[in-house]
Amino acid sequence: MRLQGKRALVTGAGGAIGGAIASRLAAEGAMIVATDFDQWRVDQLAKDVPGATGIAADLSTPDGIAAVADLASDIDILSVNAGISDGGAALDEISSDTWNRVLTLHLGSAFELSRAVVPGMLAKGGGVMLFMSSVAGLRGGRTGIAYTSAKWAMVGMAQNIAASLGPEGIRAYALCPGNIAGSIGSASIQFTPRALANRGRDRLKPPPGRPEDVGNLAAFLVSDEARHMNGVAIPIDGGALAF
Ligand SMILES: NC(=O)c1ccc[n+]([C@@H]2O[C@H](COP(=O)([O-])OP(=O)(O)OC[C@H]3O[C@@H](n4cnc5c(N)ncnc54)[C@H](O)[C@@H]3O)[C@@H](O)[C@H]2O)c1
Repeated sequence: MRLQGKRALVTGAGGAIGGAIASRLAAEGAMIVATDFDQWRVDQLAKDVPGATGIAADLSTPDGIAAVADLASDIDILSVNAGISDGGAALDEISSDTWNRVLTLHLGSAFELSRAVVPGMLAKGGGVMLFMSSVAGLRGGRTGIAYTSAKWAMVGMAQNIAASLGPEGIRAYALCPGNIAGSIGSASIQFTPRALANRGRDRLKPPPGRPEDVGNLAAFLVSDEARHMNGVAIPIDGGALAF
């Protein structure tokens, strides 16, 4: 129970990875404020995770951000996971609409919600932010241009927050999963033909990880045991980047 008395705001909490993080942090004693696009998923999570409260909000809109930011005044841990795929679309394939939707959801929600929680964290002398990046935030060729750009930017965001606010007790991390069983890593996404061909060329295919693997990493990073780590991007990819 390393997180007794802590309050954690978790986005994408109805999804595979966000749900695993919410459950794991709750198991360590944290009170969870869970948010997702989908009311049904939020209700389910609030039932499954003891003590969790839930709010449905579209984090790609200013209204959705404002509704969640209203809950941000007393948060010790922020875990940003809400995301959508860009289908692997390359520069000459992507529409401006897809670019804007992917950047606004992944990066815009990370920016707005971290800005919303930071005054409360500074007032209590510290806090931890987890940005769900990807191995696509560490290499250029894993997926499409919008998703790749958003995930690289989340690494920079974690570093900048650590550099600027670390001395005041804020820690920020980018978590970089490889293929994890769950919606964004699943076969149900409509990838472009070129993205499918490029994925077929990828020799580096360790078996997929489980959402719980990412939950375990999150639980360590937000605990005091990780107090001497800050501003780092951590791959959790079964070793794929080692090749
Ligand atoms: N699964 C993987 O292999 C993998 C690998 C690397 C990184 N990631 C990242 O992990 C995070 C979670 O992915 P996942 O695999 O659990 O996928 P998921 O689809 O299961 O979860 C994403 C969640 O985001 C929510 N969401 C989508 N649009 C939203 C919106 N407009 N407003 C609010 N919520 C919205 C969805 O409802 C869903 O519950 C994402 O940021 C993803 O990019 C996943």
